[in-house]
Order: sequence, then C-alpha cells, then structure tokens
Amino acid sequence: MADRKTLIFHLSDIHFGLENNRALDWVKAEVAARAPDAVAITGDITMRARNREFEAAKVWIRSLEAPVTLEVGNHDLPYFNLLERFFAPYRRFYGVEHTVERELKLPGLAIVPLRTTARAQPRLNWSKGWITGASLAKTLRAIDELPPGTQALVTAHHPLREVGTKGTALTRNGARALAELARRPVVAVLSGHVHDAFDIIEDSANGPVRMIGAGTLSQRIRSTPPSFNEITWDGERLEVRVRNLAELPTPAMQIDDVPENALPPREPGEPVAPVNQVPRTDPPVH
Ligand SMILES: [Fe+2]
Ligand SMILES: [Fe+2]
Repeated sequence: MADRKTLIFHLSDIHFGLENNRALDWVKAEVAARAPDAVAITGDITMRARNREFEAAKVWIRSLEAPVTLEVGNHDLPYFNLLERFFAPYRRFYGVEHTVERELKLPGLAIVPLRTTARAQPRLNWSKGWITGASLAKTLRAIDELPPGTQALVTAHHPLREVGTKGTALTRNGARALAELARRPVVAVLSGHVHDAFDIIEDSANGPVRMIGAGTLSQRIRSTPPSFNEITWDGERLEVRVRNLAELPTPAMQIDDVPENALPPREPGEPVAPVNQVPRTDPPVH
C-alpha cells in the first residue's frame, strides 16, 4: 500500500435539470487534478428522472477520471411514467449502469452500497427512504464477505433515520439498518438527500455509527452553498473536508444534525409532483 492516503470524493444531489454548472465544472477539474481513488455519488442525479436529465448526468459522470459508484436517489426513479417505475425503474441508467450500486475495493477499505429507494411505498410520500429486508441483507452480506481487517464505508441516498420517531422521519427501517451496521466494521455511512453537509455520530441499539452527509451540487441549495465532501482515509482515521466554491470552512458548511424537515423550499416555477408522490401535509419532495 502506498504512503498516500486514500482519497474519496463524496458528491450528492446533483439534480441535472437544476444543476449548478459552475460547481460541476469545478468538481470535474478537481477530480482531474487530484485523481481521487473513488468518487461516491449518493443519489438524486436528476430532478425528475427525465431522459434529457439522465443524458446530461451520464455525460458528466462518464467524463470523471476516477472510479465511480452511484446510488439511486428518490428523484432518479421514473417520475411521470408509473409503468416504467414499477417494471423497469433503473432502465434510464443505461450507459452508467456499471457504476450503479457498485462495490469499490480500496486499500483496507471497501465502499459498500445500501439501497434506500423503493419504487413504491405504502404511504403518500415516496420521497422518503425505505430499506427493504432484501436490500439490507445484500449489504450486510457484502460487508461480512470482506477480507479480514477491511473496513466498510457504506453509501446510501437517505440518512439512516427512522420513520415514525419524533422529528426524524426519513428512512423506514433506518434504525434496524443502523443497529446491524453497528455490529460490523463500518467506518461510516455516507448519504445525501438533505442538501447540506453533516458529520455526526448516530446511536443505535448496538452502539454508535458515524453518519456523513454531502451537500448538493445543484441550484436547490438549502442553507449552504453547493459543495462536496473530500474524504481521506489513512487506514485508521477517516477525515472529512467540505469543499465549496465560496471557500467557507468545513464547520461553517456542516449542519449539527439531520434536520427534522430535510426538504428545501420549492423553487419558483418548480412543477408540483404527481399526486401519488405529493405529501398532503409535508413540504414538497426533496
Ligand atoms: Fe436531492
Ligand atoms: Fe433525495
């Protein structure tokens, strides 16, 4: 293993359709200049899963000169075409399908995906996360099969916060997933969806788990400028630096906790979501 630390760029919520092109040009140049060992994109690469949005996303992702792993966000499932959503939900990833939920092995560290998006849910708001038993089992099996001494860096779209608990209604079965991850050599869980960066310790039934969120590279900013996380791993410690065009320091970019309402305000002129995805009482989908 080289002396150089492992370098991972953690990007999220690019939302092609409302992307920030200045930020994307900068990130692309940073990838070319710094040559990270991996680029982990934690979902929401499009705004409404439209074909033209996917085309733009795929061109940009393919232009990155680094191994990429890509999570599926709630915005990346067919939005207006429900038949496609049910029967071929990942078809639009054609061209970058090899990056979708791809495990990446790095020195002493493996990036292991965890799916938190579902094509349908028994509730009104489909923007929230749902970890099925099969998705969790797949991730846990991948972790358990890692070579001894290898740590796992889990990638998900939604932060692993339980649905139904006070103020943290983000991911159904999130608490169960966290508890299982806490029993394994998981150095952190990377996620997106919130559009602000964070780096927190989350308690679970089996102990604490570190949860790291990346901000957005879209125009849908919440409380901080467009950003991504630069993560370094020296074999023992994982460090996070939030990079942003405004050159604000990391503490100014990170929120203290996953917010109760993780949704940004609706953009002027932004279309209202289809009826079956619109929460009646919640803010617009994120
Ligand atoms: Fe998003
Ligand atoms: Fe999202």
